[in-house]
Amino acid sequence: MEILILHGPNLNLLGKREPGIYGTTTLEQINQILEADGKILDTTVTCRQSNHEGELIDRIHACPGKYDGIVINAGAYTHTSIAIRDAIAAVNVPTVEVHLSNLHKREEFRHRSLIAAVCIGQICGFGIESYRLGLQALVTYLKK
Ligand code: DQA
Repeated sequence: MEILILHGPNLNLLGKREPGIYGTTTLEQINQILEADGKILDTTVTCRQSNHEGELIDRIHACPGKYDGIVINAGAYTHTSIAIRDAIAAVNVPTVEVHLSNLHKREEFRHRSLIAAVCIGQICGFGIESYRLGLQALVTYLKK
């Protein structure tokens, strides 16, 4: 099984970006943990990050035939991007939405996700565990 982990804007700064909200673990460390989890789950995990909406969309478009599922943290595009939502809906590749922080405890503009409705489910608020839980849930979903 092949899973794409897609990180959106500003997540390349994890570790030093607002550590009180996002923690001190770097993106590289998160990716290493997810790759290790992938081995335990008998799954190949590929991690990519982009600050650009169009590049995220291109990566989603390239998924069919290559990846069985997507775990996405679209960052702030979660709340603004109809285009990313449409891309996920278009490719029909099962997708799980994850966030480090609990969106619902934060500013009102973060309460709405434009991509949630085209994802299998959403996990938020558990820090890096959100990614690990998302990966596990997606693999379990795909194996059914
Ligand atoms: C985030 C939450 C978003 O609202 C924010 O814009 C991010 C990170 C999270 O993982 O908690 O960049 O997606």
